[in-house]
Amino acid sequence: MPPTSSVPLTASRQGSYWLASTERAPRHPPLTADVSTDVCVIGAGIVGMSTAWLLREAGHDVLVLDAHRIGAGVSGATTAKVTALHGVIYAELTRKFGADAAALYAGAQQDALRWLRATARDLSIDCDWRSRDAVTYTTEADRVSGIQEEFQAARGAGLPVRMTADVDLPFAVRQAVVLGDQAEFHPRRYLLALAEHVVVAGGRIAEGTRATKVHEDDEGPVVITDRAKVRARHVVVATHAPFLDRGLFFARLRAQRSYAIGVHPTSGAAIPEGMFYGDDHATRSVRAHPLPDGGELLIVGGEGHKTGEGDDTRARFEALETWARQHFAVAEIAYRWSAQDLMPVDGLPYVGAYRPRSRTLWVATGMRKWGFTNAAAAAHVLVDRIAGRTSPYAALVDSNRFAPRPAVGSLVKENINVAKHLVGDPVATIARAPGLGDLAPGTGAIVRDGRHKVAAFRAPTGELHLCSTRCTHLGCEVRFNTAEQTWDCQCHGSRFGVDGTVLEGPGVRPLKHEMRPGGGTGQ
Ligand SMILES: Cc1cc2nc3c(=O)[nH]c(=O)nc-3n(C[C@H](O)[C@H](O)[C@H](O)COP(=O)(O)OP(=O)(O)OC[C@H]3O[C@@H](n4cnc5c(N)ncnc54)[C@H](O)[C@@H]3O)c2cc1C
Ligand code: FES
Repeated sequence: MPPTSSVPLTASRQGSYWLASTERAPRHPPLTADVSTDVCVIGAGIVGMSTAWLLREAGHDVLVLDAHRIGAGVSGATTAKVTALHGVIYAELTRKFGADAAALYAGAQQDALRWLRATARDLSIDCDWRSRDAVTYTTEADRVSGIQEEFQAARGAGLPVRMTADVDLPFAVRQAVVLGDQAEFHPRRYLLALAEHVVVAGGRIAEGTRATKVHEDDEGPVVITDRAKVRARHVVVATHAPFLDRGLFFARLRAQRSYAIGVHPTSGAAIPEGMFYGDDHATRSVRAHPLPDGGELLIVGGEGHKTGEGDDTRARFEALETWARQHFAVAEIAYRWSAQDLMPVDGLPYVGAYRPRSRTLWVATGMRKWGFTNAAAAAHVLVDRIAGRTSPYAALVDSNRFAPRPAVGSLVKENINVAKHLVGDPVATIARAPGLGDLAPGTGAIVRDGRHKVAAFRAPTGELHLCSTRCTHLGCEVRFNTAEQTWDCQCHGSRFGVDGTVLEGPGVRPLKHEMRPGGGTGQ
């Protein structure tokens, strides 16, 4: 077991270790004028940057746009286990799509892992890449058969897995599947370095540039941004949630948030070696990351739930902290962060043409919290499709495939749920809402303001931020996320700041926002 950290312990902070440790990354200026390019990649996360690098290697002129910063989306708020062992996915894929499909998926993930490893090595990217076993375990008796089934299915899919109850965790495990020679790394350092290589190789990157529309005319697609226009031969939408509604991806994906904490263990404490995913009723993810001083940061994740659901999201961090203290020698919880990923209705990512007949507009989404190997595999599919090539794996993850029958049931259920959040506000629900005056400093809630409801946040200094309660995507009611202090939409996962700014799509327009000075209590 590696040594633990001796760094001076920082005050606990909201935000991922990946972002905190790369705060001073150089910026790429936003677009200032209309430009043209061969391929415009929208989104500089693991999907977009992998695609951009492969396209550049294949000789394409590439322009990458990002609304915020490189690797500051989900790829900068992940736990970054790079593995083909995805919880208990092989049992599920074998049941739904058959053993051949599970084998195709496994092969694509292992190839993706090898490509990521080779890219980090060949470009000499300093991202703390290290080889580790990936472990899916359970501590619960009623989950043991699920782990056994996963072992059989993963082995049937061609992965060299083994089954054991002896893993490097400080608590008893009933059964585990282990896949050797997988990896963990620092995702943002990797992405920032890859971005520099894209630029050195002649590609362009514009941060702080949000795409809002893509028009397709006879000459090809034009990306409309909040800064300028981009004319391209091809456009790749790698924005995590696809922001163009025309592919109806929002109706085929469910946004799921989860939480992570970065823990400084007490001096000399044992740190588990491996990447662990606990497939218990409350899932848990555990890995460690080397710190510059030779110590280790323990990263514990879990507490997933549908975005916008649940009352007080701070309780999710408390649950993780309690669990971490039960099982590890914790000196300090140094980092807390949360993020969401998109769960596809039938369990496989959507990669390929944006709509069945698109030949110039492409997409990759729905990585179901296993986005590193899935992104690298998707990038290869997209580059092939742009070059007019296809493959059996491309067909498996085709963005325009028909969902199998059980998935259609879950799609209908999801959309009935959405419909519930779309109905207007009956007078009675407005009357029942608390008044503006009930809002304490530093809190947010849907409150009554005269004859309307508003999404209100009272800053610690007293002033009020009042936003429309209706998400700008399709109009569902937003809910206050207490831990992040954001407005989150339960329908398809859009998120907004307390001043209404868009944090995550599919929504692209801000919530209507008004400021009132401190002291106003309304009614
Ligand atoms: C808590 C958590 C833990 C996870 N752990 C793992 C793990 O251990 N292993 C694993 O393989 N996967 C894991 N995942 C999943 C993985 O992190 C994601 O699937 C992956 O990072 C998604 O990458 P992306 O490129 O699609 O999205 P992002 O990284 O979010 O990139 C999308 C980019 O698009 C930009 N953008 C959005 N809209 C626009 C627009 N309109 N115009 C311009 N730019 C735009 C954003 O700013 C962002 O930078 C985890 C996910 C979560 C939430
Ligand atoms: S994200 Fe679709 S309605 Fe809010």
